[in-house]
Amino acid sequence: MYKAVIFFFSGTGSTWWVADRIQKQLDARGINADIVPMDSVDPKKADWWIKSADLVLFGWPVYDGDMPAPVKAFVDSLLVVEKGKHIHTFCTATGFSADGAVRYRRRFAAKGLIIDSAAHFKLPFRRYSLHPRRRQPGEKALQRIFAACEASVDGYIKTLLEGKARVRGRRLAWLGALQRLPYRLFKKRRQNRLSVDEARCAHCGACAQLCPAGNIRFETIPHFLGRCVQCLRCYAFCPACAIRLGKRSRGAGRPYALPDKRLKPHMLIK
Ligand SMILES: Cc1cc2nc3c(=O)[nH]c(=O)nc-3n(C[C@H](O)[C@H](O)[C@H](O)COP(=O)(O)O)c2cc1C
Repeated sequence: MYKAVIFFFSGTGSTWWVADRIQKQLDARGINADIVPMDSVDPKKADWWIKSADLVLFGWPVYDGDMPAPVKAFVDSLLVVEKGKHIHTFCTATGFSADGAVRYRRRFAAKGLIIDSAAHFKLPFRRYSLHPRRRQPGEKALQRIFAACEASVDGYIKTLLEGKARVRGRRLAWLGALQRLPYRLFKKRRQNRLSVDEARCAHCGACAQLCPAGNIRFETIPHFLGRCVQCLRCYAFCPACAIRLGKRSRGAGRPYALPDKRLKPHMLIK
């Protein structure tokens, strides 16, 4: 039987959503696909999956035009596939990614993983849920945005299975470098932006459980340890909206949700 595996890293659920959509599309074509979070899978199990699956995909969000640190760590932790394996990568971005899905092809190649196709998906919906002051689009507008995202993922799967998917972004390395430059210059300023509003904290510890970087030590309230990878999971999924990003918090009682109501934070880690 034809088998597929989709490894994903997702801070706030968008990349999970794409992985889930890909899984459904493959399923509809009789291809059994597993979706596996990179930040909690055992590397040995991951190696088994890579070797036994016919179709292997890796997906992650673009952070400052670059690959998130947990994804780099995951790739580095894999064993080398001696015979080589052809894989497919995809990135999600709110706005634009030039070469995000293909920039680290040498890192993959060092593990015997050859990138056969690389895709970039623009998913604007997180913008509306994470910024408390941003005006929410109406129900119809949201549906339109969502339908466009679905169509781009469905189109990608069609071309992938027809063998026509391409490595997109390889020639845009120069644009990617330009995209990353301002973030690199202000990197220090952007780190350590998280804090907690102690009056709001419900002392549940969800932030520490969800953090992919072990950056939160929980002792009645969260303490940040300076290892933040900026995935915003704690900020997005704190049930009491108690995590602040700079001076901003999501606003009391405002749950973070993708338009997909099935998303529960624990799906991102197991
Ligand atoms: C630290 C950080 C940096 C980001 N940098 C970019 C960027 O350079 N370009 C872009 O279009 N989106 C950028 N985004 C937005 C995310 O790539 C986008 O929302 C992604 O779909 C989030 O996926 P997730 O919900 O699976 O974490 C950034 C988000 C974060 C948290």
